[in-house]
Amino acid sequence: GLKKKEVNVLCLGLDNSGKTTIINQLKPSNTQTQDIVPTIGFNIEKFKSSSLSFTVFDMSGQSRYRNLWEHYYKESHAIIFVIDSGDKLRMVVAKEELDTLLNHQDIRSRRLPVLFFANKSDLREAMSLVKVSQLLCLENIKDKPWHICASNAVKGEGLLEGVDWLQDHIK
Ligand code: GTP
Ligand code: MG
Repeated sequence: GLKKKEVNVLCLGLDNSGKTTIINQLKPSNTQTQDIVPTIGFNIEKFKSSSLSFTVFDMSGQSRYRNLWEHYYKESHAIIFVIDSGDKLRMVVAKEELDTLLNHQDIRSRRLPVLFFANKSDLREAMSLVKVSQLLCLENIKDKPWHICASNAVKGEGLLEGVDWLQDHIK
C-alpha cells in the first residue's frame, strides 16, 4: 500500500493541561496506557491519521523542563498547544509561553500550523473556546495557520477534529 507521509509534531503547553492524555487517546488502543503520570523531560509517541504518520514529542510542561522545548522547534512540522480551560489563574502564564514560542527564531518566520486544544471543556468552571482564544490573543496570529478545538481528553472528545485539521494544513 501507499506509505504515509512522516511528520514530526511538538506537543506543548503548561504542566497538567492534558498533553499526555490527548496523545494517549490518539495512539492505537493496544498501545494506550491506563495511568498517566506527569511527564519527565519528554516522551516520543506515534500515531497515524488517514494520510499521515505522526511522530509526537510530548514535552513536559513543568517550568523546569520548558527550556527543552526550543531544541525541537527546527525539526517540527506542526505544533499542538494545549490549554487547561479550567485554569484561569495560569492563562497569563500560558500566554507568555505561547508568545515566547511564536517569537522564537526557529518558529517566527515559518508558516507551520498551530493547533490549540482548549482542553478540559468538561469542567464546570471551564472557560469557553471563545474566551480562551481572546485571552491568548489568537486573532493576532497572522503568519501561521491556526485552529482551536474544545476537547475533553479523558473521553477523547474533540481530538479527531483537531487531527483532521492538522492533516489538512501540514505541507
Ligand atoms: P505534564 O506532563 O506535567 O506537562 O502534564 P500534561 O499536560 O501531560 O497533563 P496530563 O495528560 O498528565 O493530565 C493532567 C491531569 O489532567 C490528569 O489527571 C488527567 O487525567 C487530567 N485531564 C486531562 N485531560 C482532561 C480533560 O479533558 N478533562 C478533565 N476533567 N481532566 C483531564
Ligand atoms: Mg505529560
